[in-house]
Amino acid sequence: MRVDGKPTRTIWPAANGGGVMIIDQTRLPHEFVISELVTLDNFASAIKDMKVRGAPLIGVTAAYGLAIALRDDPGDSGLAAASAKLLATRPTAVNLAWALDVMRAALAPLPPAARPEAAFAKAGELADLDVAICDAIGVNGLALISEIAERKSRVNILTHCNAGWLATVDWGTATAPIYKAQDAGIDLHVYVDETRPRNQGASLTAWELSQQGISHQVIVDNAGGHIMQHGGVDLVIVGTDRTTATGDVCNKIGTYLKALAAKDNDVPFYVAAPSSSIDFAIADGVRDIPIEERNAREVTHMRGRTDDGRLETVRIVPEGSRATNPAFDVTPARLVTGLITERGIIAPRKDALATAFPERLQLVD
Ligand code: MRU
Repeated sequence: MRVDGKPTRTIWPAANGGGVMIIDQTRLPHEFVISELVTLDNFASAIKDMKVRGAPLIGVTAAYGLAIALRDDPGDSGLAAASAKLLATRPTAVNLAWALDVMRAALAPLPPAARPEAAFAKAGELADLDVAICDAIGVNGLALISEIAERKSRVNILTHCNAGWLATVDWGTATAPIYKAQDAGIDLHVYVDETRPRNQGASLTAWELSQQGISHQVIVDNAGGHIMQHGGVDLVIVGTDRTTATGDVCNKIGTYLKALAAKDNDVPFYVAAPSSSIDFAIADGVRDIPIEERNAREVTHMRGRTDDGRLETVRIVPEGSRATNPAFDVTPARLVTGLITERGIIAPRKDALATAFPERLQLVD
């Protein structure tokens, strides 16, 4: 998508063949900073510290990180150690394991000397595949928006967190239908949940929608139910970090509450789900998906720009009060209207997912 009008991806190989360039998302929306990752440690900490984040982008970043690591140690032990280090960075988004599995399957049969170059090429393929998948999700999701636009002059969409192009290589998942609708000339308005504590909605989604010129308003996480009750939302579209074989959806903390509010108000609740984020090995999201617990400081403190231009971090919780910070929650399949995938809009059910992705199917009770 565009940054100051210039088409930009979130990750790309450095022109000099050295490292890999990323947009440092911890600096947005106040500063647009591009950083180069050159060592395995750089990649692992960029994912852990959320310089890159969002399930699809985490996967592609890990693929490039593996390629960089193999330059130093292309043998079997190097491949295993680098994969393990990258896999340990964040536990919830299954795209990380998916990308590393794809990389290892392609590289393990090769002689070590051939691996670094092949790994870089494969990581590039995964980046391009992610763009193609998000593009297809956009086309499939556009049908939902177009249908609403036939009976309403303006379509109001609510989204949570950032499942935008910053969370992928390009287009985004939840935002891809929005960008396609904009291209189709549909009048849109997007309610952006701020998404405490990391504020990916307020900081990232609002920034990228501004860059693309899409009408939007940031709302506090608690406002969505109220706006739905008053008929303000036609459609909810969120992303996913891991969707089970049965259609349970794990996404940024607070998604579940939005799904409950949507159900109570008959608002369609769609999840934009690339197949790289579907975990066909598990059937019960609440029981089986590991939920990342992040540092309590993300809850007790907030960072922002002061009116006189300084970036400051302030404490908002009394000294001595403790905090807990689960980063994701699970929305049961019964609350999900449909999954917008690259192969069409699919019911959140085991049989429907199995029919759509037969090559990924594993037997799950
Ligand atoms: O903690 P984050 O910022 O990596 O979480 C991101 C989300 O929860 C997104 O909604 C999800 O990864 C889907 S991104 C297309």
